[in-house]
Amino acid sequence: MEIARNSQDLRQRLAELQGNDNIAFVPTMGNLHDGHLSLVRRGFTMAEQVVVSIFVNPLQFSPTEDLDAYPRTLEQDLRLLAEEGVTLVFTPSVEDLYPAGLQAHTKVTVPGLTDVLCGRQRVGHFDGVTTVVCKLLNLVSPDIALFGEKDLQQLLVIRKMVADLGMPVQIEAVPTQRDTNGLALSSRNSYLTSEALDVAPALYRNLMAVSDAVQGGARDYIGLCNAVVQRLNALGFISDYCEARRCCDLLPAQEDDTDVAIFCAASLEGTRLIDNIVIEHY
Ligand code: PAF
Repeated sequence: MEIARNSQDLRQRLAELQGNDNIAFVPTMGNLHDGHLSLVRRGFTMAEQVVVSIFVNPLQFSPTEDLDAYPRTLEQDLRLLAEEGVTLVFTPSVEDLYPAGLQAHTKVTVPGLTDVLCGRQRVGHFDGVTTVVCKLLNLVSPDIALFGEKDLQQLLVIRKMVADLGMPVQIEAVPTQRDTNGLALSSRNSYLTSEALDVAPALYRNLMAVSDAVQGGARDYIGLCNAVVQRLNALGFISDYCEARRCCDLLPAQEDDTDVAIFCAASLEGTRLIDNIVIEHY
């Protein structure tokens, strides 16, 4: 497995890859778990070569979020990726990706989808995500890029960016990987104490309950979601939102919509957890 530690190195190593091979790309912020590895594995079913980036992107953290505390586990991450047979790992520095500094760097903004749900509380977060993903896609030039459905809003925002800017890459969505108790795998789970880890699966259980109710004919999305917030708060969560929205444009779901997802964000012991469930067939 090759490692490119800066953009110039990346360019050279990409040029050395087989000309006709397809490249699948998995951008990450490291601290890899089975969720990330499922993206890599799916990548290998679609392309001969898989390139992974590990970059904790400061541009997507707000001043109130602790960038320095984000778990960095590079050696372990490289070992896991080598075991998966990954072709090339790109581990750039902040100076390499943002040479003129964060403020001076060109930003990519996707309007509309980014000022609701997580965008309401995490102002500027999605601009940081789309700016770095756009840059990484330009540097790696993959045929396919893979993103997890756990961050469904992020996935929809990136799809819109790629469509709006005519970027020549296929965006592939990979289902959320879950613990046996339903908890969505996330790097943030490592912040939780064992007590909180016992409570955290309630997030998914509550989303499932809404999904079941909708499958059973219920359509009072606001009432169903408010009940989730109340139940989670009673368990010790501090809920940010639980909302039913249309996947096509993230507008609030109406009774006759058929592409509805329930999105939820709630903090437990100060750790912000997000999850969602797509209700497609009913
Ligand atoms: O989902 C993530 O880990 C990040 O938002 C991403 C897509 C790697 C961009 O920094």
